[in-house]
Amino acid sequence: DHLYKRFAERLAQLEEAEGAFDYFTLSYRSFGIQRRSDNGLVLREWAPGAEVIFLTGDFSKCHHAETSLSYIQAQTLLNGQIYEAKYKRFIVSKETGECLFRISPWAKHVTKTLDSVTYDWTHWDPPQPYQFQHPRPPRPSSLRIYEAHVGISSPEEKIASYKNFTRDVLPRIKDLAHQFTTKTTHSLSLSRFGTPGDLKHLVDAAHSMGITVLLDMVHSHASSNTEDGLNYFDGTDSCFFHGCSRGNHSLWGSRLFNYSSWEVVRFLLSNLRWWMEEYHFDGFRFDAVTSMLYHHHGIGTSFSGNYSEYFGIHVDEDALVYLMLVNHILHKLYPQCITVAEDVSGMPGLCRSIEEGGLGFDYRLTMAVPDKWIQVLKEVRDEDWDLENIVHTLTNRRRGEASITYAESHDQALVGDKSLAFWLMDKEMYTNMSALIAMTPVIDRGIQLHKLIRLLTHSLGGEGYLNFMGNEFGHPEWLDFPRKGNNESYYYARRQFNLVDIEHLRYRQLYSFDHDMNLTEDKYGWLAAGQAAVTTLNQADKVIVFERSNLLFIFNFHPCNSYIDYRVAVEHAGKYKIKLNSDKLQYGGHGRLVQDTVFFTEPMPFNGRAQSFLVSFISITTFHS
Ligand SMILES: *[C@@H]1O[C@H](CO)[C@@H](O)[C@H](O)[C@H]1NC(C)=O
Ligand SMILES: *[C@@H]1O[C@H](CO)[C@@H](O)[C@H](O)[C@H]1NC(C)=O
Ligand SMILES: *[C@@H]1O[C@H](CO)[C@@H](O)[C@H](O)[C@H]1NC(C)=O
Ligand SMILES: *[C@@H]1O[C@H](CO)[C@@H](O)[C@H](O)[C@H]1NC(C)=O
Ligand SMILES: *[C@@H]1O[C@H](CO)[C@@H](O)[C@H](O)[C@H]1NC(C)=O
Ligand SMILES: *[C@@H]1O[C@H](CO)[C@@H](O)[C@H](O)[C@H]1NC(C)=O
Ligand SMILES: *[C@@H]1O[C@H](CO)[C@@H](O)[C@H](O)[C@H]1NC(C)=O
Repeated sequence: DHLYKRFAERLAQLEEAEGAFDYFTLSYRSFGIQRRSDNGLVLREWAPGAEVIFLTGDFSKCHHAETSLSYIQAQTLLNGQIYEAKYKRFIVSKETGECLFRISPWAKHVTKTLDSVTYDWTHWDPPQPYQFQHPRPPRPSSLRIYEAHVGISSPEEKIASYKNFTRDVLPRIKDLAHQFTTKTTHSLSLSRFGTPGDLKHLVDAAHSMGITVLLDMVHSHASSNTEDGLNYFDGTDSCFFHGCSRGNHSLWGSRLFNYSSWEVVRFLLSNLRWWMEEYHFDGFRFDAVTSMLYHHHGIGTSFSGNYSEYFGIHVDEDALVYLMLVNHILHKLYPQCITVAEDVSGMPGLCRSIEEGGLGFDYRLTMAVPDKWIQVLKEVRDEDWDLENIVHTLTNRRRGEASITYAESHDQALVGDKSLAFWLMDKEMYTNMSALIAMTPVIDRGIQLHKLIRLLTHSLGGEGYLNFMGNEFGHPEWLDFPRKGNNESYYYARRQFNLVDIEHLRYRQLYSFDHDMNLTEDKYGWLAAGQAAVTTLNQADKVIVFERSNLLFIFNFHPCNSYIDYRVAVEHAGKYKIKLNSDKLQYGGHGRLVQDTVFFTEPMPFNGRAQSFLVSFISITTFHS
């Protein structure tokens, strides 16, 4: 089709003009500052609005500038063996003659002193660069993601480093794939947590544990900073971005890339190669993809699923072609690479292969699911839960396109919202979480629902599952970064892993359930199996029954009804045993089910299945009835 043709044309241009996309996307090796064999440094930039360019640094007075075609170069000589030094670089604008202080878009390392508001461009060229010890793990068939943010990953009220994370957090998430949430197109905020070597060691240590590491990537927009951002880089409002109002995101106040520009494509694709080649990441989660797909950026638009919403002149074809290039190139060069799109619109074909006319992502995030859970917990009494609507939200996804589902992520944890555990149990979490005292009704309901919500989401909602750090044990409160409004406090910018380490607190019980949910998935692989077939969805009984991957899932969300001899449908005749029972005492349940009961199917057709059997199960809590 039309889009595929445009993609193929662009790809052919990349192949012809600069000798294969492999070479073109390695431009970080020829742009920015490069060391020459004679120990000199050469700076090469694309800055069409610049008249001349000067480079100086801590290490020498240097600077010479020359212009060749559309690229501009400056050279200097390094005095001796310097491996960390600060650069300064000035660009003189063609239009105004102004002298502008700029960081190179290709800067490989930037640092910030405590009293400074902007970042410095730092030469980082260690004599012994980090040597990776461990190969990338094979691509997992079931994606279980542990979403993490390095800076807040400690119980202490201060910024954690890559080293802290490697030592203290990696062992906790062993064998779960995980991703970082750092928002940047160059290394800006990443440098706050340590040196490039520390980050490489983190990725390497994760690989040694069989964990794959995904990086959060923002190619949808960029900060409007000029001194340490890309904005007005060459003194014009276009350069990397669209000129005029098309280059402004009206809600976020940020700049929008011009994906039809050759040099923008070079820069962004090389950015991805840089993280893959230099840091050995295993893939990317692309942030705010909806904003790229449409000229309206999703602002003031709601998506009902009508196809006219996804096709037509409001779709940004240049961005679509760019995303196709991204997925084509990453998957071609790194077959095990995982790409995930954050898209609220539900664009069809987003996760279909490019050959089939899709955009080529591996997964999309099911952003409607966490919103549904928060809405239910905020607005609906337990007896009024609309299970049909909940099941619809969990299963309403495009066939043949894989989704990563989640009950909550960093979005729900942030200040203004709060974790599911806190919605459920609120301030009683401060006083009543001890397992040494009897459960109050609030804690009992909270503990039971926390487990059921997570298991239902995990088993019914997608082909991958995501957990935000700490929520596996019911992290209380919310997340807030130091800012003026909270007096620069780190009080909420932390993850209280210490809670799960305290033997007598019920966080341990929630963790224990989550741990076994993960193990059970690992054993039976329901995420990698096709969508579940729901056989019972009973609004009055509040019961949901479905099969997936040879497992039968039974949920009772009724606040007070337990059921004796309840008929459930299965496809295959045989023997069924209990594999994961949320009512176990060690999970904070009430131990009312006999764990080793064996159920034999009867050839009695029920709810569209040839086989069925009778089973008894209990209500959520013991307090009602
Ligand atoms: C990081 O580790 C260092 C060294 O053990 C320790 O002193 C520091 O308190 C840790 N920081 C955080 C935020 O956990
Ligand atoms: C985007 O880049 C293309 C190619 O360089 C250029 O022709 C076009 O004018 C730019 N668009 C805007 C809105 O700046
Ligand atoms: C874009 O936004 C900036 C502020 O972020 C503003 O100064 C500029 O005038 C805007 N440009 C257009 C064309 O809207
Ligand atoms: C979809 O949108 C088009 C154009 O707005 C409209 O004509 C059509 O009736 C809509 N279809 C449905 C099923 O709502
Ligand atoms: C639960 O916490 C409340 C204060 O929030 C306290 O009054 C009550 O005694 C606690 N219940 C138990 C069983 O400890
Ligand atoms: C910040 O500090 C000021 C002065 O100590 C105090 O008045 C204010 O309430 C504090 N604000 C917050 C959000 O803690
Ligand atoms: C998840 O399951 C894997 C595979 O069985 C196991 O090795 C790992 O320890 C589990 N991780 C957690 C956090 O429970």
